[in-house]
Amino acid sequence: MKFFVDTADVNEIKELADTGLLDGVTTNPSLVAKSGHSSFLDLIKEICDIVDGPVSAEVAATDYDTMMKEAEKLAKIADNVAVKLPLTPDGLKVCKKLSDQGIMTNVTLCFSSAQAILAAKAGATFISPFVGRLDDISHDGLQLIEDIVDIYDQYPAFTTEVLVASVRNPLHVIEAAKMGAHVATIPPKVIHQFYNHPLTDSGLAAFVEDWKKTGQSIL
Ligand code: G3P
Repeated sequence: MKFFVDTADVNEIKELADTGLLDGVTTNPSLVAKSGHSSFLDLIKEICDIVDGPVSAEVAATDYDTMMKEAEKLAKIADNVAVKLPLTPDGLKVCKKLSDQGIMTNVTLCFSSAQAILAAKAGATFISPFVGRLDDISHDGLQLIEDIVDIYDQYPAFTTEVLVASVRNPLHVIEAAKMGAHVATIPPKVIHQFYNHPLTDSGLAAFVEDWKKTGQSIL
């Protein structure tokens, strides 16, 4: 499973890139606004220079013509830009055009299998079903992931990767991984939670304490 980080905070991205475990980045207009960065284009360029993997940069417009212009500008920033597009009729028309040109695309705000089928037919590189936001309204977000993976598996012509988004906790990622989802985009706080287990902490403390008793040094 590929791990992307869901943030536009350059410092958080740098810290996670240094772990060697980061495969990409996703941003969205809300995350960009939260970053406080004064230039969206410069921010995406900076992120693309930090991470070799796909970096999702979302269009701001909602109409076909303007989204196409924005998408072409975003795609020119770096080879690893994935243009993020809303799952709307115009968004999917842009997706099809960009996919036919070999430009990476990430279709976002997906909340149903029907939408996911359309995104695959539009040649999307990634589809982003929002698990957490479905859970937030008492719908089963992980069930959507399972359904999309099952549907895509029936059609070799569907090359779209399922990118689990709106992740709220490690269990969202673990359960999605069991289903065969290709990617998870995870908030930095949740990624850090993956490391934690009290038995690891207590076990390491015991190893350190017992090693001290040997009076030896490896170096
Ligand atoms: O960036 C797309 C998605 O992961 C955002 O989800 O629900 O945390 O705003 P959310």
